[in-house]
Amino acid sequence: MHNIREVLENIYYVGVNDRRIDRFENMFPLENGVAYSSYVIKDEKNALMDSVEAAFTRQYLENIEQALDGEDLDYIVIHHMEPDHCRNIDFCMKKWPNAKLVGNAKTFKFYEQFYNDEFKDRYYEVKDGDELNLGNHNLKFVFAPMVHWPEVMMSYDTNNQILFSADAFGSFNAIEGHLKAKNVIHKTDWLDQARRYYINIVGKFGKQVQALFKKIDGLEIKAILPLHGPVYEDKESIDFILDKYTKWATYTPEEKGIVVVYASMYGDTEQAADILAAELADLGVTEDIRLFDVSAWDPSYIITACHRYSHSVFAPINYNSGLYYKMEAFLQELVGTGYQNRHVSFLNNWSWGGTSLKKSKEILEAGKHTYVGEDVLINSSVKEEQVEELKALAKAIKEDLDSTEL
Ligand SMILES: [Fe+2]
Ligand SMILES: [Fe+2]
Repeated sequence: MHNIREVLENIYYVGVNDRRIDRFENMFPLENGVAYSSYVIKDEKNALMDSVEAAFTRQYLENIEQALDGEDLDYIVIHHMEPDHCRNIDFCMKKWPNAKLVGNAKTFKFYEQFYNDEFKDRYYEVKDGDELNLGNHNLKFVFAPMVHWPEVMMSYDTNNQILFSADAFGSFNAIEGHLKAKNVIHKTDWLDQARRYYINIVGKFGKQVQALFKKIDGLEIKAILPLHGPVYEDKESIDFILDKYTKWATYTPEEKGIVVVYASMYGDTEQAADILAAELADLGVTEDIRLFDVSAWDPSYIITACHRYSHSVFAPINYNSGLYYKMEAFLQELVGTGYQNRHVSFLNNWSWGGTSLKKSKEILEAGKHTYVGEDVLINSSVKEEQVEELKALAKAIKEDLDSTEL
């Protein structure tokens, strides 16, 4: 079966599509699967770049065999030890007994933590900045610790200006024919999937991504080959994704807009959120207004929207004298992605007692947000005076939005 692609000259895509998976890392829902990418570099010495998930061994080994076309494998380079890329290392090591396993000290430590097979005598340990010459391709290793695991490294082909970027620049979605980014980035929902992937998987590690950018600053990059999703091999696509990553890693909103995240047991807080949204629109807000019920959406979608836009309104409610569980879980997860430096407002609903507003603010405190408008406080249902307060909050948000420069 021929299921490989020559993605760049003498570099073969041997990855696989996983359309049977429901959730990435058993947490993040996938609408259209995910691709585990892996590459074979054909040269004087042949190298395999990373491997793929457990369920694809047969197809994957066939793919590599096809790419090698009867030649031997000299190196298996491991950029990242997360099991979505490592479940077939042992099979490859057994099938190609002359191959050396290329990684750093932490790569091998994790290898031994996850797996029982002994390949110590075949380890080829590299340090940051070391080079491995394959012939025409010369791999220079660039360590990228905590993007998003400690052992992560990338390879930069100094002869051909190709960056093998590990999970960075990856995206959700199986590959639908188009392997080149230029054919999807403006035409499909690819950006939504790339953003949701980055924010939820890597979002917490913005500082480390910025450190990586400093490290690769000045390098000419003609192609980026990540471990998920399409490859970037034209200047416009590379510039496009680098610009997005710069914004995401610095927690800079991509665009002006308002996200309203509410919890509502009986529909009353939802009504308040709708009144606020309608008022914003009536005041002339032309930017996106997005409403999310925390009980209806997987948090990964709401979190991604909070990072994307400049303004958020949180509408927590009380439950068992504390914060409604789904809102609490959502806010904790949001903070876990490094959410910071946004313009935020609150409306709160409670019927008796409770600490939901206080608790919500405490959870969000580390993000150093700018608070906009007066909190709107509702007892059970929206009354006339709260409509006025919602209008006042909408006015404050509109004014703040208008004066926001991105
Ligand atoms: Fe990963
Ligand atoms: Fe991955």
